[in-house]
Amino acid sequence: MSTIIVVGSQWGDEGKGKITDLLSEESSIIVRYQGGCNAGHTVVKGEKQYIFHLVPSGILHEGKKCYIGSGVVIDPASLLQEIEDLKHQGIEVEGKLFVDSKTHVVLPYHKILDEKKEEKREKNKIGTTKRGIGPAYIDKNARCGIRMSDLIDKNILEGKLKTNFKEKNESLKKLYNTEITIKEQSSILKEYVKYGQSLKKYIRDVSLLVNQAINENKNILFEGAQGTLLDIDHGTYPYVTSSSPIAGGACTGIGVGPTKIDKVLGITKAYTTRVGEGPFPTEMLGEMGEHIRKKGGEFGATTGRPRRCGWFDVVVVKYAVRINGMDSMAVTKIDVLSGLKKLKICTSYQYEGESIKEFPSDLEILKKCTPMYEELEGWEEDISQITDYDNLPMQLKKYIKRIEELTNTRVAIVSVGPRRSQTIIREKVFK
Ligand code: IMP
Repeated sequence: MSTIIVVGSQWGDEGKGKITDLLSEESSIIVRYQGGCNAGHTVVKGEKQYIFHLVPSGILHEGKKCYIGSGVVIDPASLLQEIEDLKHQGIEVEGKLFVDSKTHVVLPYHKILDEKKEEKREKNKIGTTKRGIGPAYIDKNARCGIRMSDLIDKNILEGKLKTNFKEKNESLKKLYNTEITIKEQSSILKEYVKYGQSLKKYIRDVSLLVNQAINENKNILFEGAQGTLLDIDHGTYPYVTSSSPIAGGACTGIGVGPTKIDKVLGITKAYTTRVGEGPFPTEMLGEMGEHIRKKGGEFGATTGRPRRCGWFDVVVVKYAVRINGMDSMAVTKIDVLSGLKKLKICTSYQYEGESIKEFPSDLEILKKCTPMYEELEGWEEDISQITDYDNLPMQLKKYIKRIEELTNTRVAIVSVGPRRSQTIIREKVFK
C-alpha cells in the first residue's frame, strides 16, 4: 500500500488530470492539496470530457473518496457548480467528497482585487486567471481569511466579514476608486451563509481522515494542480501562482508528515507550454508553435487563453526532478509530436557566453538565457492506438530514452492520447 504525489514538472497543464484519473483505479482516496479554481484538470471517460477545477480528478471512479485539503482555496460557487454538474451526469458526490474545515474561501473582493491589481500592473502583468486566487492566499497569510468552518456559523461569518469589508474598502477606495457598498455587503453575507448551508455536509477534518487511511495501509493519491515552475517559492517568481504545487506542498496542504510519502510521480509533457506572462526559454513563436498549439489543443481549460508552446526543456524538468524528489515520470501528449521531421530538446542554456545546466534561481538571468538544443529524428506514424511500448516507433523510444538519460529519471508511463486506454504503463506506480 502506498502514498503517491502527482506533481506537474513544468508550468502546469501537463495532463495531471488524465494520469490522476487513471491511477485512481488503484487508489482508495484522492486528495487535492493546493490551488483553486484557477486549475482546469481535463479527464476523458468514454465519449465524455470532464473539466475539474476544484474536485479531485478521481471523482469519476465509483467507491473512491475524494478530499480537498486545507492548502486549497475554495470558491464555493464554483465548487457547488461542479458538484451540480457531476450530479446531473449521474456521478454521485455525496458521501464521497469531503473538504477540510480549515480550507480558505475565495470571496468576491478577492476577485475584484485580482482584476484591479492586474489591470494596474503596466509592464509586469502576471496574466493571472482572475479567479481571486492570489488575494485569497494573501488574506490567508495575513490571518484575515475566511475558512470553510466560518461559513457554517452566520454570526462568526458576519463578524469576520464586517472587519474585512471595512479593510478592503479602504484599499479599494484609495487604490482603485471603487468600493463594496452596504447593499453588496449584505448580499455577499447572505450568499455565503447559503453556501455554508449547502456545503456543510462536505466539511470534515481531511488531515485526520487521510492519516487514518495511511494507518489503514490504503493507497492514496495526492493531486497537485499547476506545476513546479508556478510554485510561489521555487517557480519563476513573480510569474507564479500563490500556492505550493510542488511535492512538499502536499504535506502542508493536507496535513501529512513527509515520512508518510512513498513516491513522487512527475507529470511531464513531451514539449513545454505555459499560460500567462513570464520568461520561457524554449518558446516557439513562429509556425511551429502554432502547429503544436493547434494539434495539442493548447488552450487554457479554465480561461480558454492560447497557451504558449515550446520545445522540451531538460533544464526545467531536471529542476523539477530535484525540487520534488521525483522518483519517476509520466510523459504525456507525445502523440502531438508525431509527424514532425525533427525534434529539439533543450539540454542547457547559454548565458553571457557560458553554458548553464542548472535552472537559474535569478529571473533576471533566466530572461537572458538562450536555449541550446540537441536535434533528434521525428516519427511519422500515428501512435495513438499503440498499447505496447515495444511497438512504438524507434525514434520515439530514442526521444524517451534521451529524456530519461538527461533528467536521470525513469519514464514509467507514456500517454499517447486523452483516453484512459491511450496509456502505456511501463512500470507500475503503486507497489
Ligand atoms: P493565478 O493562479 O490565477 O494567480 O495566476 C498566476 C499564474 O499562474 C498565471 O500565469 C496563470 O496563467 C498561471 N496558472 C494558474 N493556474 C494555472 C493552471 O492550472 N495551469 C497553467 N497555468 C496556470
